[in-house]
Amino acid sequence: MQTYDVVVIGAGAAGLMCAIEAARRGRRTLILDHAKAPGEKIRISGGGRCNFTNLHTRKDAFLSENPSFAISALKRYPPSAFIERVEGRGIAWHERTLGQLFCDGSAQQIVDMLVEDLDVAGAELRLATEVRGVAAADGGFRLSLSAGEARCAALVIATGGKSVPKMGATGFAYQLAEQFGLRVVPPRPGLVPFALDPSQLAWTAPLSGVALPVRAGAASGPAFEEALLFTHRGLSGPAMLQISSYWREGEAVEIDLLPGEDAFAWLKAERARRGRQAVAAVLAERLPKRLAQVLTERESAAGNLADLSDKRLAALAEALNRWRIKAVGTEGYRTAEVTVGGVAVDELDPRSFAARKVHGLHFIGEAVDVTGWLGGYNFQWAWSSGWCAGQAV
Ligand code: FDA
Repeated sequence: MQTYDVVVIGAGAAGLMCAIEAARRGRRTLILDHAKAPGEKIRISGGGRCNFTNLHTRKDAFLSENPSFAISALKRYPPSAFIERVEGRGIAWHERTLGQLFCDGSAQQIVDMLVEDLDVAGAELRLATEVRGVAAADGGFRLSLSAGEARCAALVIATGGKSVPKMGATGFAYQLAEQFGLRVVPPRPGLVPFALDPSQLAWTAPLSGVALPVRAGAASGPAFEEALLFTHRGLSGPAMLQISSYWREGEAVEIDLLPGEDAFAWLKAERARRGRQAVAAVLAERLPKRLAQVLTERESAAGNLADLSDKRLAALAEALNRWRIKAVGTEGYRTAEVTVGGVAVDELDPRSFAARKVHGLHFIGEAVDVTGWLGGYNFQWAWSSGWCAGQAV
């Protein structure tokens, strides 16, 4: 039986950050993971370049029963603190759209930086280690592991959500929360592509690979102006991933294929100006050519603009500005980038992430009911919550 001040379960973004800070404060710290390597999701994130933060980090970019819960941690360890750390290590980065910061080189640089910091701080890292059971004991916790046992005063759960099980994601955090009587907001996949039914796929699937800027929204949550991508299973791209985190089963999704343009006014003006032009050719000036062709066929608008009555023009405009689809579902945890829901924030202290009811038990990162938009917000949440817990344990 080995005794530690702090045991962190989960060597992902939040857990590594927490363990580094705890060890820097002189705490005898163990961080363990059932995976063979630490920070696997960091390594594959952002298409291998890790979108490690977002310059516009604010509470509105997070979903939670109480988004204000996140404010304190995001202020105490803001994006500028992580950027300073990255720059201090000589890791080059660049900003893409919407305040999203990526490594110029590889996401592995972020993993290496954290693992090196962990080592220098003196924390012990144990990989390929299963946690078989956790019990409260002597004012702290006793852990039964695949290799031996460990005892600790403070236990930090940083095992993330259920997204991408093949990368080792589990519902461990939720089970442990429930074991200790803490409420869990039912988890569901977020930042995930939509699946369509066969009747819709019959015309969308042939467009697989086509992308365009849209404005998309579900009944629950805000609308997003970003790209949509047709896939052979349904709809993806940043706009659809964003609204998937808000979408509830049975809800329709509304997509404006010409954001900022009144399609009826535009088509009417074009009909007056050049009525002999083919509808598909005119649409192809604003939309990808394949989509323009498919839409004109679907809306029975093949032919010239002058052939269309006001009524048919209005129907075509409606399909462009207000394309309503009934999404049958999402691709689920298999491809979801995050898990929405998690340990309820009213169970936790927003400074230390300690459970109010269970002395010494902390939850951080994606395991908590705080989920960011696409764009680096989720890593920022992991760094901020991990850093804050690391100051408290
Ligand atoms: P994280 O999932 O990182 O770590 C949890 C750790 O716990 C893992 O190492 C896991 O092996 C371990 N674990 C789980 N169950 C365990 C158990 N029972 N016993 C022991 N260990 C256990 N976000 C962002 O901001 N920018 C981006 O570019 C991307 N890109 C991206 C791409 C892809 C493909 C995915 C799937 C996700 C992203 N994300 C992202 C989301 C981001 O990866 C995610 O929000 C954070 O990694 C969450 O950090 P955590 O430390 O909370 O969990």
